[in-house]
Amino acid sequence: MNIILIGPPGAGKGTQAKRLVSERGMVQLSTGDMLRDAKTSGTEMGNLVADVMARGELVTDDIVIGLIAEKLDSLDGAGAIFDGFPRTLAQADALEALMASKGSEIAHVIEMRVDDDALVARITGRFTCANCGEVYHDTTRQPKQSGVCDICGGTEFTRRSDDTEDALRTRLMAYYKQTSPLLGYYHAKGRLKTVDGMGGMDAVSTQISDILTN
Ligand code: AP5
Repeated sequence: MNIILIGPPGAGKGTQAKRLVSERGMVQLSTGDMLRDAKTSGTEMGNLVADVMARGELVTDDIVIGLIAEKLDSLDGAGAIFDGFPRTLAQADALEALMASKGSEIAHVIEMRVDDDALVARITGRFTCANCGEVYHDTTRQPKQSGVCDICGGTEFTRRSDDTEDALRTRLMAYYKQTSPLLGYYHAKGRLKTVDGMGGMDAVSTQISDILTN
């Protein structure tokens, strides 16, 4: 089963995608992670997108569609969780065509709804293990042992360069202007489900699980 998690920055898409990977053996396809990897490796494309991402604007459709097309070839039958893709109508159309070409489809598009004030608190408090990428938060999810990653034991943590209030304002604007029209697009196709993303992480997981099993 293939699903899309859609929601504004900080809605919890990555957090829930990682849970689905470990609980259901699905594969997370996060265009944000792919672009950050390209930046870190200093590829030509990574250098091209670095400033755009730091400002909180969207990268061009052709770049992200190319990244997803490449990953789809290696799925090998596992269910995909699209996290942060598609983000524009052009990307949604491209995904429909790519899935159809593989004889596959999107089963559910899950909108994660969170208030703007909560998004600001989530984004500005987020930090990540520099070694394994596990995501934490200053108040809602600290490592069990302070300064040591629960997953890999790493002791170095990073904060994303676009997790500033300025960049977040631009990211939110991009979401409402360019991505939220996709809610209507998927509603019209009868695939849109909405979860209340304001609850705790377990409560959100339960709502998503209910959608996937019903
Ligand atoms: P991307 O990496 O996709 O970022 P985003 O959509 O802004 O989403 P985030 O990763 O910031 O948030 P999330 O919803 O995953 O929240 P998380 O689970 O981490 O994109 C970054 C940039 O790349 C874009 O701005 C753009 O430039 C470019 N890009 C990417 N894809 C693109 C595309 N398709 N087209 C064009 N450009 C693209 O949670 C956040 C925090 O909250 C964490 O600390 C977490 O612990 C905490 N938290 C999570 N859930 C809860 C909860 N239920 N209660 C309390 N705290 C919670």
